[in-house]
Parts: sequence; structure tokens; C-alpha cells
Amino acid sequence: MILKTTSSLAGKRLLLIIGGGIAAYKCLDLIRRVRERGMTVRCILTRGGAEFITPLSVSALSGEKVYSDLFSLTDEVEMGHIRLSREADLVLVAPATADMMAKMAAGIADNLATTALLATDKPVMIAPSMNSHMWNHAATQRNFNQLVQDGIRTIAPASGDLACGEVGPGRLAEVGDMVAALENFFDVTGPLVGKHILVTAGPTREAIDPVRYIANHSSGKQGYAIARALRNLGARVSLISGPTALEAPDGIERIHIDSARDMLSACKKALPADVAICVAAVADWRMKNVPDQKIKKQDGSLPALQLTENPDILEFLARKTDRRPDLVIGFAAETENIQDNARAKLARKGCDWIVANDVSTRDGGQSVMGGDHNRVSLITESAIEDWEQAPKDEVARRLARKIATHFT
Ligand code: C5P
Repeated sequence: MILKTTSSLAGKRLLLIIGGGIAAYKCLDLIRRVRERGMTVRCILTRGGAEFITPLSVSALSGEKVYSDLFSLTDEVEMGHIRLSREADLVLVAPATADMMAKMAAGIADNLATTALLATDKPVMIAPSMNSHMWNHAATQRNFNQLVQDGIRTIAPASGDLACGEVGPGRLAEVGDMVAALENFFDVTGPLVGKHILVTAGPTREAIDPVRYIANHSSGKQGYAIARALRNLGARVSLISGPTALEAPDGIERIHIDSARDMLSACKKALPADVAICVAAVADWRMKNVPDQKIKKQDGSLPALQLTENPDILEFLARKTDRRPDLVIGFAAETENIQDNARAKLARKGCDWIVANDVSTRDGGQSVMGGDHNRVSLITESAIEDWEQAPKDEVARRLARKIATHFT
């Protein structure tokens, strides 16, 4: 076996929980690939998992005893489920079945795998795999979103031919993608060490009078996810955020602002930066003059709100400052002619890349704004890449990896 000690997996311990899906066979290859990179792997094979692959092949490939039974006295003497769940740097559930995700979301602990998942104090990652109807079912999506909110990391399922003969999302990610996700997770030194990245996120609020304002539905989730993903690759991140309900991410400087003009001055203050990513949904207009007093309701007449245009922060960062970041990235929310409109925006604003959101995408009835998923195309001057619909965290990680590649 070749030991690639340059991999961030070298010396790390994985607890792999193999669920009961047809894709369980991919875990056998996964075990080999991560061990080649110097990782040790201990496996819990669920009862369902054991219907697809044998404990013997798992232990032969992992070089470790395979655990499956919560109430096995010998296992509890040698290695209790609590120790098993903690003597790892990361817990990966693959394939994460609909049933496993439902149990995890509900906090059920009725076997060794689910008990270890509740007992662990280590980060948990899931790689879902199932029939596309099961994946798209409101209950599965609800459970999945709950798990994301609970801080569980995800490796998005791929789209394609499914073992059941149908075609759609739900395939377990390819082994190479799972290895890459694990490597990214452990890449603590990070390819973006030494880079300062400015991220704008959330909505802005434009005062109408002292009590009213103009705003929009932006939740800030995508911008915050991008800030976290960049931090995880080692970048120093300044997150300039409009009002959101989101917690400040650890290790990130968050600067609160209300209006577009506040956002612009905060951006100016945060320069110089190597990269600027404008994810914020900045209000296009503000009141020309904000009265000092609340505008009174008057019978029979409506107030004439006179608006004026807000500064364009993205355009400022791309064209109007002599401290232009090396890479300036904008977002474009579109419902039609996504790529043409995004290309036009790239030229108009002078930025290097545009991430075009398809805001017509529905997320279990939610819109992209406020939802947990996003489907984007990455548009540069020379290329267009359409990315699969994925959780916002996954989109963020992919964008962060692209940015890292840009600098290598
Ligand atoms: O022109 P439009 O609003 O569609 O452009 C969207 C992109 O421009 C986003 O990246 C957004 O953050 C940025 N933007 C900005 N300042 C504005 C308006 C949009 O930075 N005033």
C-alpha cells in the first residue's frame, strides 16, 4: 500500500458508518482510498449495510474489527460505543439512507450506529444515497435540512442512473468526491492561508422614515456558508453582513451594517483584500431624503416616496477603487436567460466571475432566498459551468475550492 503522507488524511482516524443501501459497495473502495492516504478507518456496519456487503470484506480492507451490535458484551468490554464514537477525528455516514437521516434528525438511538452518532463529540458528515423520489420527498428534505442546521456536514448525492432503474438525484457521491470532501475537511493548513477575503451577505435595510424601511427576503445563508468555507481553507474572512438571524461564524470577523451605503463604507474600510465576493442582496434604491419624523398617514392621500439609486458595491470593488482585489466575484439572481443575463452583468460590473443563481428553483416549496439549497452556474469570461442543485454549504465549498485553485 502506498502511503501518501502529503494528504491531509494522513494520521487521521475515520469512523465510517455503513448504512443499508445498494451503494454500500462503494465504501469498500473508499476504505482503500483513504487508507492509501494514511487514514485509519474503523467501521460500523449497520444491519442493513450487512445485507449488501459482508463484515469480512470490511474488516479485511479496514484492517480493523467491524462493529455492528450495540449489545455485544465482548465489544462493550473491549470498546464501548462511547469510546468508539469518540476515538475518531470524523464520523462519516455512507450511504446515509432516508431511514438513517430520519433517525439522526429525530435523535433516535436504537442501534449501535445511531447510538454512536448521538454519543459522538466529533464532527459528523453524511453522504446520502437513495431513490430520487425518496430523496425529494418532503420528509427526507425536512430531515436533511434539519441535519444541516444541526451542523452535520454533507456530501451531496449525484444525479444519474440509480440502481432501481430510475434516473435522478440520489446516487451516492463517487468515491473520488468523497475522498476530496474528507481531504477538504482536514485541510487545516489550507490553500487560502495568507489571503484576505471580503464577503458581503444578507439584505440591506433602507430607511423610509425613523420606523420603516425597504428590505428584501435575503437570509444571508449562502454568503455565510461561503465565508465559513473560505475560513475552512485558511482564509482570513471579513464578513460584511446586513441584518440576518444567523449566528456569527467562529473565527470570522463580522461587521454589521444596515444600509447599502454603510455596506460600501465597511467594504472600503476592509480593503485591501485578495478576493471580494458580493453575495449580499443590496437594495437598489433608497429614499432620496429620509424625514426625521415618522411619515403620517393622511386620509385620501398617499405619500410620494422619492427614491434614488444606491451605490453599486460590486462595481465599486471591480472598477472604481485603486485597491481592486485580484479576484472580484458577483452573484446574479435570475429567473430566465440566466447565462446571457449573467454574462451581461459580468461585463457591466467589471467583475471576474459571476455566480448565477436560478431563483426559480424550489426547495421543498421554499424559494432559493431563505432556502437551504441553491443551483448555480459559474460564469467567467472564458467558461460557463452549471453546478448541480446542492445544499448552500456544498455550493460554498465548491466555490471556495475554485477560488483556491485560482491562486495555485
Ligand atoms: O445588478 P444586480 O443587483 O442584479 O447585481 C447583483 C450583484 O451585484 C450581487 O453580487 C450584489 O451583491 C451586487 N450588488 C452590489 N451593490 C448593489 C447592487 C448589487 O454590490 N447596489
